[in-house]
Amino acid sequence: MKTTVWDVRDYTSNLIDYPNLSEIIETYQQGGLVALPTETVYGLGADATNEQAVQRIYEAKGRPSDNPLIVHIYDTDQLDDFVTHVSETTEKLMEAFWPGPITFILPLKEGYLCDSVTGGLNSVAVRMPSHPVARALLKEVALPIAAPSANLSGRPSPTTFEHVYHDLNGRIDGIIQSTQSEAGLESTVLDCTSFPFRIARPGTITRSMLNDILPNGIDEAQFDHSDKPIAPGMKYKHYAPETPLKIFNTLNQSIDTAEHDWSRTAFLLPESFVHFVPKAVHVMVLSKTDTDIQEANHNLYAALHQLDQLAEIDCAYIYGYPNNDEAEALHNRMMKAANYQYIQGEWS
Ligand code: TXA
Ligand code: MG
Repeated sequence: MKTTVWDVRDYTSNLIDYPNLSEIIETYQQGGLVALPTETVYGLGADATNEQAVQRIYEAKGRPSDNPLIVHIYDTDQLDDFVTHVSETTEKLMEAFWPGPITFILPLKEGYLCDSVTGGLNSVAVRMPSHPVARALLKEVALPIAAPSANLSGRPSPTTFEHVYHDLNGRIDGIIQSTQSEAGLESTVLDCTSFPFRIARPGTITRSMLNDILPNGIDEAQFDHSDKPIAPGMKYKHYAPETPLKIFNTLNQSIDTAEHDWSRTAFLLPESFVHFVPKAVHVMVLSKTDTDIQEANHNLYAALHQLDQLAEIDCAYIYGYPNNDEAEALHNRMMKAANYQYIQGEWS
């Protein structure tokens, strides 16, 4: 299949003026698959009311079809079509964080969305993205758009056009080329179908940000980093680069260089720690310091993709940023990428 690339980089804030916009819109309306930029990661979009189109998403990604998709909307009015009820507390959160990087799990009203979007559940995941290109598309297309991350199943999520192109060129109808995703990690997923609400996937909207709006409305339990499936997708291996990755949490000036083949080892860490590994050949800087969490979020997936491009690397070490409220999502994605290989104590 030929994949069309629509470069909209000069039209980020005025997509309506992009000469080929109608071609993109028609592709969606005719059941096509088009990858689009969002503020979290790139998504692989299709008409959420079209069963065949949504089936094609699962095929293109190689994704198990019991792992439901997020439905993306332009306006909260659209919720009436496929959600039975939005509580006042949920509305407060929507007002605070939408458009933006949070997905709400809501009770499903049947008959409007196609069945495979929700994978047979009686709830639906909904998000209103803030990226100006995504917003303009959702407005013009006037359809709810189902969109998982635009990567092959089991690969790190894409934060750049190149990541999407690498995984999906030839498998989908088109890719919208925009700049690097700002947030860099997937949205927070909040289950609002029972009270208190529960974080099913941590993201850039943190527990404390949610609690600021809704004290006592959010389940206090810290996110369970084990593989216990909370969101259906959690039971699948995710975000893993091909190179074995280990998390370490202490750097020591006296690293024993004799034990390591520096040319075959990569390090992902804050710039302020680079001097601890002076002999390292492959260094990827994730942030300036270990407290610049937003910056590390923004860069994590690009670094994991880069890792897979490096030939002849046996293993990689990633610095385990402090696991506080702000870094909960970062920690969650690192743990998955590293397959829970966590080295306590000194790296030596
Ligand atoms: O930032 C994001 O959320 C990106 C962009 C493209 O919007 N999308 C994304 O989609 O990450 P995906 O499909 O890779 O992840 C969706 C997650 C999965 O873990 C899925 O199991 C969960 O949301 N999910 C979807 N519907 C659900 C439901 N009804 N109940 C519980 N979890 C659900
Ligand atoms: Mg995904």
